[in-house]
Amino acid sequence: MSTSPSGPVVVYGAYGHTGRFVVDELLRRGLTPVLSGRDASRLAAMAEDRPGLEVRPARVDDPGALRAAVTGAAAVVNVAGPFLDTGVAVSGAAVAAGAHYLDVTAEQPAVEAVYAARPDDAEQAGVAVIPAMAFYGGLADLLATALLAGTSEPASLSVAIGLDAWWPTAGTRLTGARNTAPRRTIVDGTLAPVPHTAPRTSWDFGTLGDQPVAALPFSEPLLLARHLPVARLDSYLSASALSDIRDPSTPPPPATDERGRSPQQFVVEVVAQVGDREERMSVGGRDIYAATAPLAVEAVVRLLDGRAAGTGVVAPGEVFDAEDFLRALSPDTLTVRRRITGPGPRETTPA
Ligand SMILES: NC(=O)c1ccc[n+]([C@@H]2O[C@H](COP(=O)([O-])OP(=O)(O)OC[C@H]3O[C@@H](n4cnc5c(N)ncnc54)[C@H](OP(=O)(O)O)[C@@H]3O)[C@@H](O)[C@H]2O)c1
Repeated sequence: MSTSPSGPVVVYGAYGHTGRFVVDELLRRGLTPVLSGRDASRLAAMAEDRPGLEVRPARVDDPGALRAAVTGAAAVVNVAGPFLDTGVAVSGAAVAAGAHYLDVTAEQPAVEAVYAARPDDAEQAGVAVIPAMAFYGGLADLLATALLAGTSEPASLSVAIGLDAWWPTAGTRLTGARNTAPRRTIVDGTLAPVPHTAPRTSWDFGTLGDQPVAALPFSEPLLLARHLPVARLDSYLSASALSDIRDPSTPPPPATDERGRSPQQFVVEVVAQVGDREERMSVGGRDIYAATAPLAVEAVVRLLDGRAAGTGVVAPGEVFDAEDFLRALSPDTLTVRRRITGPGPRETTPA
């Protein structure tokens, strides 16, 4: 077991929609969050509802304030997006303070920028830097890692994300507008642009039914390409969810339970084809923003208790025991199903 930093967990962007879920999940898991972000008055207002929590305002273009904000932290969770505007600065401050860094970006260029900026200093500091520890990106990476455990043969992967609706937050809308780089996927074992006309097909999402889907990779190709033998990747999202976020009149997520979750239902299925054998694993759950919090916080818990297999810039599946990680979130956050459908022993098992 490696020695891990100790101290509180700084949440940068704490008063955002996802930030609030992350702060509450840290409290639920017995960790001490520190509220950080650029707006001092919104941080103070948030602390009124959560007495005893420290507030440390800082802008990303103020290195001194950012340094002070992360001093003494064991980990920093960055939930302030667009991450193209915050990832490099916040990860730099975290690593310089000897703290692990995680963010929840779905943007490919933001993952790439952090991967490029941090490999040496993170390794030297003995901390992990994990972009995209979230619903989009990290969850598919964990599922694919669990499916491909023990194989070094090249695999063809499909990642299909089914949503019954997508109520986007202001941050999601802003990030979509800011993220104009062509999306990439994996073709012939390397990252390559997705075709201009996104191919459409349909996908049977089980509990969510058969849905038209459009090819749309998020941050997962960059994570998968780091550490798994993926020859080809096809990523899909429900076409209706895409229409929801493209419609400017779609409202933000409504809170309909005591935890503040919307009623949104999701299914994420990953299918791995290795030779003539096909395996698939899927998870279902509620509210992609709320579900991001237990994913990020489970990662923090494992980094701090020594259940992480490395330091430096890493993908979630590269550093955590993927199957065990997913099982830990089941059934409260995720319901997990695994099926082997090719030649070989056929079975249906919980992960
Ligand atoms: N990968 C995933 O599955 C996943 C899941 C959840 C969220 N996300 C991403 O996480 C980000 C936040 O989402 P959200 O739903 O929490 O949105 P939100 O409620 O609009 O919150 C956005 C937060 O980011 C802060 N922020 C934005 N730009 C900043 C900057 N340049 N410097 C400092 N703070 C900045 C905002 O502060 P101000 O209010 O002061 O601007 C606010 O605290 C978005 O990019 C979203 O796409 C990804």
